[in-house]
Amino acid sequence: MNPSLSKRGWGDLQRVVRQGYFMKKLWGGRFKQSTDALMETFSASISFDKRLYACDIEGSIAHCKMLARCKIISSSESQKIQKGLKRILKECEEGRFEFSDKLEDIHMNIESRLREIIGPTAGKLHTARSRNDQVCLDIRLYLRTEVDETIKEIDRLCKTLVALAKKNIDRVIPGYTHLQRAQPVLLSHHLLAYVEMLLRDKDRFLDARKRINIMPLGSAALAGTNFPIDRQYTAKLLKFPEISHNSMDAVADRDFAAEFCSASALLMMHLSRFCEELVIWNSSEFGFVELSDAFTTGSSIMPQKKNPDAAELIRGKSGRVFGNLVSLLTLMKGLPLAYNKDLQEDKEPLFDSADTIQICLKIFTDMMKSTKFKALSDEELEANGFLTATDLADYLVLKGVPFREAHEITGKTVAYCLDEKKTLGNISLGELRKISKRFEEDVSEHIALKNSVDRKNVYGGTAKKQVKAQISRLTKILK
Ligand code: ARG
Repeated sequence: MNPSLSKRGWGDLQRVVRQGYFMKKLWGGRFKQSTDALMETFSASISFDKRLYACDIEGSIAHCKMLARCKIISSSESQKIQKGLKRILKECEEGRFEFSDKLEDIHMNIESRLREIIGPTAGKLHTARSRNDQVCLDIRLYLRTEVDETIKEIDRLCKTLVALAKKNIDRVIPGYTHLQRAQPVLLSHHLLAYVEMLLRDKDRFLDARKRINIMPLGSAALAGTNFPIDRQYTAKLLKFPEISHNSMDAVADRDFAAEFCSASALLMMHLSRFCEELVIWNSSEFGFVELSDAFTTGSSIMPQKKNPDAAELIRGKSGRVFGNLVSLLTLMKGLPLAYNKDLQEDKEPLFDSADTIQICLKIFTDMMKSTKFKALSDEELEANGFLTATDLADYLVLKGVPFREAHEITGKTVAYCLDEKKTLGNISLGELRKISKRFEEDVSEHIALKNSVDRKNVYGGTAKKQVKAQISRLTKILK
């Protein structure tokens, strides 16, 4: 006797024997030889599609109820099947379900177990259904929840950023182009730029959800089914507002999954940019923020180091999420209609994107919550930056100087400051007037940082008034 069996009781032995019997392939009828062992492992998807167990059971219960309602199976058979499925759900949830490679995928693992529990009636569940429409249903159910979870996390991040914008409304930072100090902006304005991007990401997920939220069951293998089923009823049970219109399309396409991966890729691109800024801002060269100990790590050799690992990892993980989109598109591009086994490869990239974006959103939000924004003095802001050079040119324009000439005079002023190690903040009026007689008493007031910011009082600009208006608008949107 198998020594591991001697330790188990009679009940276990019976089960093992039964399993040997039931582990016969569900599609084994026409086969004379058994599957090659390596091939069995190669073609199995259970190691990754087991996460679909709850969706698979939910779909099967709805399908079973529909079969009974349409009198394709009896109501007592339906009850029996449903009871068995619920027991399997419990086993999965409690980690007691034994997933087997031999049974290939989640659909056949569950159906085999159902047969162990309720006997041959289990075989009636798959009436008017194929794994081809079943797997598609499972992915749609799964993605619907993932989209909802993702949207919750995007909202949480947006609310966090709006709260930070509100709290730091008076803080001025240098705005950059070409990573060169350009013009002063409010930190809040910078933060809210990301809220705009994230809200578009949210929109993309919501839009993708419309095309995810379509019920494919009834398409069967590819052609539809001979049985008089009620597809609308199944859709209603599963809360799908719409059913698919073409059975071949329904089992063959994964464009809805690619859309999810595409929305995920854009989201990660945004998070990655933000992370890049945090890494730069956290450096001693910039010193704009201090990331908390909770989201940084030390170096094993350099004791002084505090590395922005969370931000770096999110930036790094954007790569795999972009890759997942390309995997999925490449997977589909050469497939003749309808289902092909290649499509089994849709799941790992999809699951990986869903997992990655959610953990990244969570970590990012918590990291932002604990980040300290350092106050920058006017001297720090002005040092070598000439942030208000454009304001100086505009000042001259207000005094009647043509803009091109004003640009020239301001350029000379900057050159003078660089030679004399001065800034626009501490150059004297006397010095300015040596460069141009058009400079007057009111110039220093005009180019003060706060005033420069507040003059950008155009809709969407960085003036405090405008930023406050956006904070109110976004707060309403995020309610
Ligand atoms: N595990 C398969 C998949 O993920 C399920 C569908 C299999 N259908 C088939 N005819 N082999 O795509």
